[in-house]
Amino acid sequence: MSFTRRQVLGGLIGLGVVGLGAGGARYWLGRPFDRKTHDYELIAAPHDIELVPGHVTPAWTFGGQAPGVELRCRQGDELRVRFINHLPEPTTIHWHGIRLPLEMDGVPYVSQAPVLPGEFFDYRFVTPDAGSYWYHPHESSAKQLGRGLVGPLIIDEREPTGFRHERTLCLKSWHVDEEGAFTQFSVPREAAREGTRGRLSTINGVSLPTLELPAGQVVRLRLINVDSTITYRLNLPKGDARIYALDGNPIQPRPLGKEYWLGPGMRIDLALKVPAVGSEGLSLRNGPLRLATIKPVASREPSAEWPPALPPNPVAEPDLAQAETLRFNFEWAASLASPADEAAGRYKYWQINGQAWDINDKTCADRPIAKLKKDGHYIFVLRNMAQYQHPIHLHGLIFKVLDSNRRKIEPYYTDTFLLGKNETARIAFVADNPGVWMFHCHVIDHMETGLMAAIEIA
Ligand code: C2O
Ligand code: CU
Ligand code: CU
Repeated sequence: MSFTRRQVLGGLIGLGVVGLGAGGARYWLGRPFDRKTHDYELIAAPHDIELVPGHVTPAWTFGGQAPGVELRCRQGDELRVRFINHLPEPTTIHWHGIRLPLEMDGVPYVSQAPVLPGEFFDYRFVTPDAGSYWYHPHESSAKQLGRGLVGPLIIDEREPTGFRHERTLCLKSWHVDEEGAFTQFSVPREAAREGTRGRLSTINGVSLPTLELPAGQVVRLRLINVDSTITYRLNLPKGDARIYALDGNPIQPRPLGKEYWLGPGMRIDLALKVPAVGSEGLSLRNGPLRLATIKPVASREPSAEWPPALPPNPVAEPDLAQAETLRFNFEWAASLASPADEAAGRYKYWQINGQAWDINDKTCADRPIAKLKKDGHYIFVLRNMAQYQHPIHLHGLIFKVLDSNRRKIEPYYTDTFLLGKNETARIAFVADNPGVWMFHCHVIDHMETGLMAAIEIA
């Protein structure tokens, strides 16, 4: 690393974070202001939205909407986002799945100082990989993501692909009651189990939407699970759909099959052959539950065939023969918090290799759970010792999923792997990005009650 955390805390405030002058801020607009360089001004602010018809939900939004405005950049270009915080509390933005320098990773006290109310921070980084990604704060996550601070980030392939149509679909279940008021984002007894589920299931902030898609065309559906808890069991009964990418990374296209389990933080790019106008009954489902209805609408274009596979991202191939193996056990550990902690509402239920991350301890990242050598090759054995699933996410890198003791896996690249109940899986990667990278479960309740660690690469 080229700096210490102390330097970040002491020095970066003067460089990247500057107080906003009075009168300068347009309140909720996030707009591309230079298409050539993909510059965005992105404002986080409280904003009322209508999730339940006729009722107001006091959401927190990026660009005046929840999920937030879609940010786009071309692979290999630099993305420059001026982020302005108009929330009543500190926050940051983390760019989930993007391989970027540590100082742009958006983890408070690890990669940057939190952005205080009224301040801004300029995020700038090159986007090496194409695909479907997303962004969210890495501070008070249960509340901030729960109130709506999540948004899609699309990195377009350098060269045109065979897709002419696409839709971004962000899946989120809101913690709101029948009148749109927020309910508790995190309930301790739920945090100790699968996590606290929201009640109102939505796509792009709309409950049970009808998606109008061009008949006879192949549409790329970018499904992004921006939810804090729920693993969606995606299926499209009667739909002719193929998987083109998992978590941003292309695979050899294959049929969607019966269902695909999309855990929190994960993405899937599907190609859907839209049937003729008038075909009924096509819906996107979570298990047996309908998420959206698909309505084919007339298209003048000639009907399309399946596009070729998407080009692979430039990820280094781990050499398993020379790789060093490290083991990580993810366990449930009753309550690890002291009575005083619990009285203050701080709970710990989970640990990695016997360590529970303390979300309130700003020095946790100084004690990484593993220190890797820059450019070393590694195999991680991930073992889930509990009966709840953990979508295990690693910042700053893309890893290859090798195999599992529970199911047959066609090796693929990802940043988030859904580790099933009592499953043991192996992942591998080249540690080519120096930094202190968070390694955590993306069920926010699990992450905030212990299931997080730091991996140092130097
Ligand atoms: Cu979506 Cu720490 O990540
Ligand atoms: Cu991430
Ligand atoms: Cu978990």
